Amino acid sequence: MNIFEQVEKNINNLVENNVYWSACATTEEMQRAREGRLSIKFFDKEVPTDWLKGIKGKKVLCLAGAGGLQAPLLACAGAEVTVLDLSEKMLEKDQRIAEQEQLSIRIEKGNMCDLSRFADGSFDYILNPTSLMYVPDVKPVFREVSRVLKVGGIFIMMAPNPINYLCDFVEDGKGGYYKAVNRMPYCSSDHDSMSDWVEYGHTMEDYIGGQIECGLVITGYVECQLEDITELHFLTRAVKQG
Ligand SMILES: C[S@@+](CC[C@H](N)C(=O)[O-])C[C@H]1O[C@@H](n2cnc3c(N)ncnc32)[C@H](O)[C@@H]1O
Repeated sequence: MNIFEQVEKNINNLVENNVYWSACATTEEMQRAREGRLSIKFFDKEVPTDWLKGIKGKKVLCLAGAGGLQAPLLACAGAEVTVLDLSEKMLEKDQRIAEQEQLSIRIEKGNMCDLSRFADGSFDYILNPTSLMYVPDVKPVFREVSRVLKVGGIFIMMAPNPINYLCDFVEDGKGGYYKAVNRMPYCSSDHDSMSDWVEYGHTMEDYIGGQIECGLVITGYVECQLEDITELHFLTRAVKQG
């Protein structure tokens, strides 16, 4: 089994166990999006509304973004949506909501490292929820994103800050503490060769420098702190240069 087959298997298992990030958009959220009050959340952080201004009628790719959350909301807001994801189980959720709500959503099973099915300049927007920790190298993804975006097109991505991977929790009988022990880049199999879990911790140079190198100019940055102090995520908005 290659790493992507293993990731797909891992994700499908989590979805079957109702992992929290596989929750679909609610009827109320879809109604609000239809009324022009679109709100897209990655975890508990809302994508700033001005990042998505004018999305109606635009061609949008939800990249590694299945699960019945972002794609149906964007379709309700009037965007022409394609969702590409590795996981059949996640895509089934978008398919189901599209049928229930009579939304036109193009569903594509595939790997975000290879977008060769899409022509150059196909999309106005690409939204990529937290998923880049499942690819060993972010560069091929950013290269493909830049290729399939129109000039002036917008790329919005969310990813874990490296602090998620730097620290181990040390139990000391007094509540414990975190100790920074892991060097970046991080690869889960280097720490537990017996586990089937596949995850990579990329550096900020990979995330920020990688986008810039591919012609994506970063115009927005937002952080999202979850309960655990090492669970820090960030969102970037980038524009494809001409
Ligand atoms: C944490 S979920 C994010 C989706 C969810 N809708 C959300 O808002 O958080 C990560 C998604 O990335 C997908 N994924 C992981 N690796 C992928 C790859 N190489 N190509 C395409 N999708 C991938 C998974 O199948 C999963 O649906």
